[in-house]
Amino acid sequence: MKTLIALLALLSAPAFAAPFDKGDAKAGKATHDKQCNACHASRFNGDAGKIYTRADHRVKSAASLAQMITTCNANLGNNLFPEDELNIGAHLNGTFYKFK
Ligand code: HEC
Repeated sequence: MKTLIALLALLSAPAFAAPFDKGDAKAGKATHDKQCNACHASRFNGDAGKIYTRADHRVKSAASLAQMITTCNANLGNNLFPEDELNIGAHLNGTFYKFK
């Protein structure tokens, strides 16, 4: 529920300057590298970033990035807090996706 509220807040923010700009990208990177990298890397010959940059990657908008982070987190039972997801979003958007 908290996640849903965070997501709605994110989506309904009026003309927000940059998506995830309230997130802490550095903290997000630390969490991401610990919890998400190994599995992604194992699927792309050790290059964990490839999952975000492959030609047919799935995430095409800030909203779908937020959704994917939440889905992955829920599937894994990682129990990340909404702020962790926001931080990861800031990291992934800043490093890979660059959604405005
Ligand atoms: C157990 C393995 C595994 C773990 C752990 C994992 N993921 Fe994933 N993730 C995947 C797979 C597999 C895909 C590709 C799904 C597809 O292409 O259909 C994926 C895709 C993604 C994508 C979409 C990339 C794109 O643009 O195509 C995002 C974003 C993502 N994961 C975020 C995360 C985050 C954040 C975490 C950590 C909280 C995480 N994942 C942990 C397996 C994992």
